[in-house]
Amino acid sequence: MLALVTQVVFLLNIRKLGVNTCCDAVNLVVVEIPEGVEYIDYNVFRNCSSLTTVSFPTTLRSLDSWAFDECSSLDNVNLLHTQLWKIGNFAFMLCSELKSMTIPDSLEMLGGDVFYGCNKLAPCLEYNESDWGKESVDTTYEVIAHLRSLQSQQESTEESTEEQEEEGKEFDDEESDEGRWHHQQEQKDQRPKRPPIFPHTRVY
Ligand SMILES: *[C@@H]1O[C@H](CO)[C@@H](O)[C@H](O)[C@H]1NC(C)=O
Ligand SMILES: *[C@@H]1O[C@H](CO)[C@@H](O)[C@H](O)[C@H]1NC(C)=O
Repeated sequence: MLALVTQVVFLLNIRKLGVNTCCDAVNLVVVEIPEGVEYIDYNVFRNCSSLTTVSFPTTLRSLDSWAFDECSSLDNVNLLHTQLWKIGNFAFMLCSELKSMTIPDSLEMLGGDVFYGCNKLAPCLEYNESDWGKESVDTTYEVIAHLRSLQSQQESTEESTEEQEEEGKEFDDEESDEGRWHHQQEQKDQRPKRPPIFPHTRVY
């Protein structure tokens, strides 16, 4: 039924978007989350596969598990201006088009496999079913560290040059990073499959 939804307007003065609010709203394209919202509960935008643009409020503090799982059109997420301190498990899993993400310094807690299958964001996360669940928090921390280093590079180049390089080019410039971010070419065209667990109703 949520598949028919094309637009969502949230009430003002709410602090939390509750479980499953927009889950499976596959025709939703743009979402503006109003100021005042602090918590995005689990599954809220899960499987919103047409979602391209989300604006986050400065008040945001927590993104729960699967919040944006399988938002396969989302290509850019800007959280820099928020007060985000926690990102839950699998929050951006299988966001296969996600190319850039900015995060605030306030971020302290991370779940596992937050960026699982986000192959454009961090090529080291090429989907491999037999790796599912292994050292996932560590991997997530590596991605966050990588994003932070991209952010600080960007901040320093912004001072000298006003134009930024086009998206996707970033990883080519990262050869120096101890080979960590090397892309495994042979897996490039494999489409990530959904892991065979975690039905929508499951609570963690
Ligand atoms: C996503 O939502 C659509 C529409 O409701 C549904 O048909 C599809 O099975 C969902 N996909 C997943 C992986 O849950
Ligand atoms: C997936 O991971 C397993 C275990 O680490 C490895 O043996 C296998 O070669 C990997 N598959 C691909 C396609 O990279």
